[in-house]
Amino acid sequence: MLSFISAKEAAEKWNISQRRVAILCSENRIVGAMMVGNMWIIPGNAEKPIDKRTVRREKGHPVTIKPFVKWVGGKGQLIDELEKMLPSTGEKVLTKYCEPMVGGGALLFNVLSKYNFTELYISDINPELINAYNVIKRNVAELIARLMEMQMVFLPMDENGRKFYYYSIRDKFNSVELTEATSAEKAAYFIFLNKTCFNGLYRVNRKGQFNVPMGAYKNPTICDEENLLNISKVLQNVTIVCGDYSLSKEFIDKNTFVYLDPPYRPISETSAFTSYNADAFDDEQQIRLAHFIDTINKTGAKIVLRKDNKELKTYGFTNAS
Ligand SMILES: C[S@@+](CC[C@H](N)C(=O)[O-])C[C@H]1O[C@@H](n2cnc3c(N)ncnc32)[C@H](O)[C@@H]1O
Repeated sequence: MLSFISAKEAAEKWNISQRRVAILCSENRIVGAMMVGNMWIIPGNAEKPIDKRTVRREKGHPVTIKPFVKWVGGKGQLIDELEKMLPSTGEKVLTKYCEPMVGGGALLFNVLSKYNFTELYISDINPELINAYNVIKRNVAELIARLMEMQMVFLPMDENGRKFYYYSIRDKFNSVELTEATSAEKAAYFIFLNKTCFNGLYRVNRKGQFNVPMGAYKNPTICDEENLLNISKVLQNVTIVCGDYSLSKEFIDKNTFVYLDPPYRPISETSAFTSYNADAFDDEQQIRLAHFIDTINKTGAKIVLRKDNKELKTYGFTNAS
């Protein structure tokens, strides 16, 4: 007959922490582990899973970093095209990277996995998103603990339980004010909602309240501990700013690669309020952005503007389009 041991016993047997055992269970990496009440039980004959982090370090593989949230426009369809424009040995060496409308950072994380820029600058107008970047940079341990707890409560629930939990977190996210003291709590709510809401959308109403319904994921990974730890490491070298893209002007010079990925123009009056924040990126904003590009183009920076899902426009490159 199959016998089970507790997470504490497995931790002692494998010489790892009890928290690590819980993480491995919730990532489905221990065959046969199950949650009973609020405790994990593990088959007595289960093998200790290979720690991916150790293998990677031992073999000296480059770190693979993925965006920590899904983000509209951040699917990375153009990453291959963009990569061709990044500094290569033949071109003048660019030492600085600037992404003033970073969103989920599809290109940023690709860059951080592969290239050695000496100075990096990212910004976004969305305060909750930038708070999450800052918390991952400065307080990743608390963030992981909070996300892990939410994951362990949410995943074993049935649909009604999950709905109740999701909407209670959404209410807390909308009612707790973002301050220094609540930053880790809010970042955890933000990531939880992103991983469990419909299509990973970030949509707010006119009052700025997040109003996306729950999504229908069977087994969402709410806490990807390894990825968050890797992101935290690489963000140590990145300046993170909450605010308008134009603030990046001071950072940009002739040694800078700039990637601009603005929100798409709203299709209708009301759709302006259905994405990232309550401000529309309308025609007036498009004109302001064009002026900004003119200004930074004078510095000699290499600039790439994503016009839509298929087209990139470059400035400052040889044979610029
Ligand atoms: C198309 S998304 C960027 C997607 C990103 N490339 C990714 O990989 O996820 C556009 C981003 O611009 C941000 N944004 C909108 N207006 C802005 C402004 N005035 N200054 C800085 N960021 C802005 C939005 O919050 C949103 O995250």
